[in-house]
Parts: sequence; C-alpha cells; structure tokens
Amino acid sequence: MVHVQHLFKQYKNTEKPSVDDLSFSFEKGTIVGLLGPNGAGKTTTISILCGLIRAYAGDVNVLGMNLKSNTEELKYKIGVVPQQIALYPELSCKENLIYYGKLYSLSGKVLTEKIHTLLQQFGLLEHAD
Ligand SMILES: Nc1ncnc2c1ncn2[C@@H]1O[C@H](COP(=O)(O)OP(=O)(O)O)[C@@H](O)[C@H]1O
Ligand SMILES: [Mg+2]
Repeated sequence: MVHVQHLFKQYKNTEKPSVDDLSFSFEKGTIVGLLGPNGAGKTTTISILCGLIRAYAGDVNVLGMNLKSNTEELKYKIGVVPQQIALYPELSCKENLIYYGKLYSLSGKVLTEKIHTLLQQFGLLEHAD
C-alpha cells in the first residue's frame, strides 16, 4: 500500500539532509509506527507521504500510484490526525465535520448521513451544536 524507496530530503540552507536514503514498505491492513528521536525526520517523512512537501528525491508509491504524479488524487484518499488539535473552536462539532467533509468533496445527503453516523459512533450526538 505504501512503498518508499531511497527517500531523500534536504531543506534549503541546511547543512545535512533531514531524510537520507530511507526505504520501507507496508501493506494494507497493517498498523505501523514511525519511531525516532527528536529531529530524526519523522514529520518530514509524513509530510512527504501526505503530499505536503513536494520537493524531495526518491520514489514514493501510495495505493499503486506514484505520489509525485498523482498528488491531488491521493490527497483525497489520505487522512491525517495531526499532533496539534486541528478543529476550529469557533465552529460547532457538526460545523467542523461539515467543513472537513466538504474538503473531501462530500455534500448533501451523503455528508449529512456520514456526520450523523460519526457523531453517534463517538457518542457526540448531544454535543453536535
Ligand atoms: N522547514 C524546515 N527547514 C529546515 N530544516 C527543517 C525544517 N523542518 C525540519 N527541519 C530539520 O529537519 C530535521 C528533521 O526534522 P523533523 O522531520 O521535524 O524530525 P522529527 O519529526 O523526527 O522530530 C531536523 O534537523 C529539523 O531541524
Ligand atoms: Mg515531528
């Protein structure tokens, strides 16, 4: 599902690469942890895999597609839970879900039903508004 070969990333105006010749693969249905000390290059690697950093060397394949030539398509298929909370405190629970659902091109009945299902699943129905 994810194949990374010889990944290399060096930020501008830095003396050494942040990711240097990193290769790994994992298959569908697996849960994988990327471990390493502060500054090891974890965030850089994840940012590349999510299509947020475009300037890198090496080959990244996600779901059988080359990441560089299919970045926009793959972004629809990738979900990220960031380290910092990424909800809008000025929006209600439901409004947050509408916003994120629309980013994934959901609308109408599909969006409404999905939001209802998720609020129910997470015990948040009574806090929707
Ligand atoms: N935007 C940036 N510009 C320059 N150097 C960066 C930038 N982001 C990260 N780095 C450097 O790249 C290395 C890896 O950082 P990072 O990917 O954040 O590691 P981790 O998430 O494992 O702590 C560190 O040396 C960090 O200082
Ligand atoms: Mg990090």
